[in-house]
Amino acid sequence: MLFDPIKIAGLQIKNRIVRSATYEKRADEDGFVTEELLSFYEALAKGGTGLIVTGFAMVHHSGRVLPKMMSIHSDRYMDGFRALADRVHKAGGKLAVQVAHGGRQSPPVFLGGESPIAPSAVPDPSSGVTPREMTNDEIWQVVEAFGEAARRARDAGCDGVQIHAAHGYLASGFLSPHTNRRDDYWGGDEERRYHFVEEVIEAMLDKAGSGFPILIKMNCDDLLPGGLTPEQSARIAVRLQADGIAAIEISGGMREAPIKTIRPGILKPEQEAYFRQAGALFKKHVSVPVILTGGMRSRAVMESVLAANEADMIGLSRPLIREPNLPELMLNGKEKADCISCNKCANFLKYEKVECLELQDKG
Ligand SMILES: Cc1cc2nc3c(=O)[nH]c(=O)nc-3n(C[C@H](O)[C@H](O)[C@H](O)COP(=O)(O)O)c2cc1C
Ligand code: SF4
Repeated sequence: MLFDPIKIAGLQIKNRIVRSATYEKRADEDGFVTEELLSFYEALAKGGTGLIVTGFAMVHHSGRVLPKMMSIHSDRYMDGFRALADRVHKAGGKLAVQVAHGGRQSPPVFLGGESPIAPSAVPDPSSGVTPREMTNDEIWQVVEAFGEAARRARDAGCDGVQIHAAHGYLASGFLSPHTNRRDDYWGGDEERRYHFVEEVIEAMLDKAGSGFPILIKMNCDDLLPGGLTPEQSARIAVRLQADGIAAIEISGGMREAPIKTIRPGILKPEQEAYFRQAGALFKKHVSVPVILTGGMRSRAVMESVLAANEADMIGLSRPLIREPNLPELMLNGKEKADCISCNKCANFLKYEKVECLELQDKG
C-alpha cells in the first residue's frame, strides 16, 4: 500500500510517503531560499518521497524560531519558493510549505530581545521565558499573515500549505488548554480556543482560494497535564474537516512536555509509530487523508499502519535526514531505515546545518 497513489483534495500524489516538515538550517540569515536549499529539496524529490512538506517557514517577524529558517512573510520571498517548487516538480515531487509562527517558543534572542507573544502569559519551564499575552489586534495581524503566506505559496507554484498547529508553537498554543488561558473570542472553552485556527483557515481560503490545498499538522496529545488530549484533538479534527482542511498530520508534544515529540531510541518495531492509537481514533472521525508521523522506521510497520486504517499516509522526518532516497530504497526492497533515532541531528543550534551527524561520526 505504501506505494499506492493518493489524492489530497485535487492534488495527485504518487505514493503514501510524506516528508514531515523538518527545519533545514539552510536558508540565508534573512530566511531567503538558497542554492543549497534548492539542491537539498531536489535530492528529496529525486529520492521518491510523494509529498514534501518544507521545514517551517515564518509568516510574521514576531514568530521567528531558529536561525536560517525559511521565511514567507513578505512578497520578496516568493521568487525563492517559485524556484523551490520548480526544482521539486522537475524531480517528480509535490511541495507543501509549512507555515508557522513560533508563539511562546520563539526565543527572545531571535526576536531582537523582545518577549515572545502567545495567547496567554504562561511561563515555559523549558526555556525559563514567560511570553507576553497577545492583544486582539496582534492576533488579527498574525491571522492575516498566515493568509498572505498561503497566497504567496500558491502564486509561487507550490502545491499546498501546511499550517503548523503542533508542538507548542503559536497555533498549537491557541488550541491547548494548557497555554491558552484567555476568556474572550480566542479562548475560554474548546470552541473559542479553536477560533484562531478557524480564522487562519478562513483567511487562507479568502487569499488563496478554495482550490489550493490547506493541510494542517496538529497535536493529538500535548503529552502534559492540562494539555490537549486525543479525545479533544479528534473533535478538533472534525471541525477542521468541516472548515476545509484537505489533510491532517498527527504529531504530539510541546517543548516543555516530559514525553518528547522527537522521541529517541526507536529501535524495535513495537516502539515505532508512537501515535498510531490516535491515528486510529482520527480515522474514525474524519474522511480527509490522515498522515501519521512519529517513529516509523520499518516498511512492515508502515504497511501495518496503512492496512489497519490508522492512517492514509506515513510521515517521515529523521529517516529522510539520513537517507533522502529512502522511498526509492524501500521500493527496491529495503526493509528498514538506517536512522537509529539518536537525535544528534536535532541539536540544531550546535551545528551549521541539520544533517545526519551519526553518519558523519561513523565516518
Ligand atoms: C531536525 C528536525 C527538525 C524538525 N523541524 C520540524 C519543523 O520544522 N516542523 C515540524 O512540524 N516538525 C519538525 N520536526 C519534527 C518532525 O517533523 C517529526 O514530527 C518528528 O521528528 C517525529 O518524526 P520522525 O520519528 O520521523 O523523526 C523536526 C524534527 C527534526 C529531527
Ligand atoms: S543523527 Fe542521523 S541517525 Fe541520529 S536521529 Fe538524526 S538522522 Fe537519525
